[in-house]
Amino acid sequence: MRAFLRVVVPLVMAAGLVGSLMVVSAQDQAKATYVGAEGCLCHADPVQKTWKMSKHARAFELLKLAGQEKNEKCLPCHTTGYGQGGYGTPGLEANLEGVQCEECHGPAGEHVDKMDKTKINRTPSAIVCARCHMEKSIHARP
Ligand code: HEC
Ligand code: HEC
Ligand code: HEC
Repeated sequence: MRAFLRVVVPLVMAAGLVGSLMVVSAQDQAKATYVGAEGCLCHADPVQKTWKMSKHARAFELLKLAGQEKNEKCLPCHTTGYGQGGYGTPGLEANLEGVQCEECHGPAGEHVDKMDKTKINRTPSAIVCARCHMEKSIHARP
């Protein structure tokens, strides 16, 4: 099992990274902007409600409770789009705390601007999840 984690998980994650880079370069780069969950309000209930009630929506609260909300090591998995033009990008107004819609579906700027169903990843695969849900050692308890 450990061998599986050491070999397969990084492979899956690398594939995910390449995949997401391809998605972004295929789009108009400038339009790959994050709008935040509040920009995705067309998808009202049950989508919004289900997400708001999920632990993903509150993932940033965990960092605050632990006094780690400025720790760069934590931000990639407890915010949305960190280091990719999302959370923490100067000048970006959208609230991107926690694991929001765009962490899984990709930046929604163009999708929202053009109301174009093809300008969003409608079916995120498990590769997206593996980026954060990887080895348990990330939060291993003694
Ligand atoms: C690689 C992604 C990743 C990183 C980096 C990361 N987390 Fe997490 N975190 C998760 C995931 C996924 C969960 C939920 C599942 C789990 O606990 O493994 C979680 C759960 C938590 C929890 C609640 C569950 C628990 O074990 O207490 C806290 C608190 C937490 N993280 C704090 C932090 C802090 C503080 C940092 C930085 C020092 C951090 N995380 C870095 C992915 C990450
Ligand atoms: C943790 C990852 C994740 C988050 C966060 C998330 N989604 Fe999803 N979403 C998915 C997955 C996975 C599917 C199912 C894709 C499939 O059917 O293969 C999905 C499906 C959907 C669908 C149906 C798409 C279709 O064409 O059938 C919509 C609409 C949607 N999500 C909108 C949202 C919105 C809006 C938010 C934020 C409020 C959100 N999602 C947050 C992962 C996520
Ligand atoms: C950006 C990082 C990230 C991504 C991507 C991500 N998660 Fe999570 N996930 C987290 C964190 C952080 C938590 C812990 C929140 C907490 O414990 O409060 C979590 C919690 C969960 C939980 C427990 C949630 C609950 O409400 O009980 C499930 C199940 C889960 N994730 C599934 C998924 C699936 C499936 C995907 C892919 C479609 C995914 N996650 C993608 C970071 C992520």
